[in-house]
Amino acid sequence: MKIFITGGAGYIGTHTCVELLDNGYEIVVYDNFSNSSVEALRRVETITHKSFTYISGDIRDETLLSNSMVGCDAVIHFAGLKAVGESVAKPLEYYDNNVNGTLCLLRAMQKNTIKTIVFSSSATVYGDPEFLPLTEDHPLRTTNPYGQTKLVVEEILRDLYASDPQWKIMILRYFNPVGAHESGLIGEDPQGIPNNLMPFIAQVAIGRRDYLNVFGDDYSTHDGTGVRDYIHVVDLAHGHLKALQALSVPQCTAINLGTGTGYSVLEVVKAFEVASGNNIAYQISPRREGDIAACYAHPQKAKELLHWSAMKSLETMCRDTWNFQTKNPKGYG
Ligand code: NAD
Ligand code: UFG
Repeated sequence: MKIFITGGAGYIGTHTCVELLDNGYEIVVYDNFSNSSVEALRRVETITHKSFTYISGDIRDETLLSNSMVGCDAVIHFAGLKAVGESVAKPLEYYDNNVNGTLCLLRAMQKNTIKTIVFSSSATVYGDPEFLPLTEDHPLRTTNPYGQTKLVVEEILRDLYASDPQWKIMILRYFNPVGAHESGLIGEDPQGIPNNLMPFIAQVAIGRRDYLNVFGDDYSTHDGTGVRDYIHVVDLAHGHLKALQALSVPQCTAINLGTGTGYSVLEVVKAFEVASGNNIAYQISPRREGDIAACYAHPQKAKELLHWSAMKSLETMCRDTWNFQTKNPKGYG
């Protein structure tokens, strides 16, 4: 089976490429490298001892996109912009890239009679939770343009399936992906100042940043800091393999990919100190606008429908993040 992977050079994409190649799939990666590098794909080849086709292109270039996916059987769609704060400042760029880009992709798929797609959605579509853990039938709403793009694409996919029930569509709602491949060759390589907790902590641990700002210690959580469901990126990548396997029959299904366990910011800091052997300096700062107190998944649906559960612990997430950070102090350079 040949899988067309948009955004395959990115953080989650590269780990999924490894998973697919290790399991005998052929892949074609399509990426405009706006937030990634060819080096990451070379490292995928090093890890797997396999080579594959990669094409430099934008998903909004419908002709190139359509021609590039000839002969593929299914699509995994990672390509998109993902920074919440930036989406507030540049909403048109986000809608164009994430929504218009997905429309181009779906049209190109129709043209090539490819009707199987796995889409990267996000727990952000649940907004501020009404109840926890979050089940897939929790009401959907978001508070920022990035989240809107995910929600709109989910709705487009549901409408597409309603219009043509031959489609096989899996919407995966990721919680908080962290960690890196155990080789330390691929991992998260944020450009500039990291927005997310784990890469920021890693940069404090290695001395690139002086201290971590803990955004709020007055939430109604057990220690007052924000609680999230951190999931190892290799577990997440494995979830994509299981999603493809589950798409043997037509459907349009949304599934949470999380562990079901929430950890606070301070618990992550402590775990990282143990994993790295370094002290993580931090100071308590005001809450970050738009943040919620707690967010974690009910992982049962993934267990039942995908026969998948996250396996890796917070300790392993921190250890593998630290391994990637120390082996690549400046990322992919
Ligand atoms: P990433 O930025 O590392 O990967 C995205 C890739 O898509 C990059 O390689 C980028 O160059 C490429 N890309 C962006 N716009 C493109 C375009 N117009 N045409 C072609 N390629 C394009 O991000 P990631 O963390 O690997 O996330 C992958 C997907 O998962 C994204 O859709 C993201 O919104 C979603 N997601 C991520 C998280 C997270 O915390 N990392 C959480 C929930 C959902
Ligand atoms: N945090 C800090 N200091 C930092 C960064 C984060 O204290 O420097 C805290 C946040 O306040 C939050 C927790 O660490 O309590 C996690 O924050 P992240 O930015 O790592 O993750 P978020 O849960 O805010 O957002 C992530 C992705 C979004 C996605 C969302 C839900 O960045 O794109 O998960 O899947 F929408």
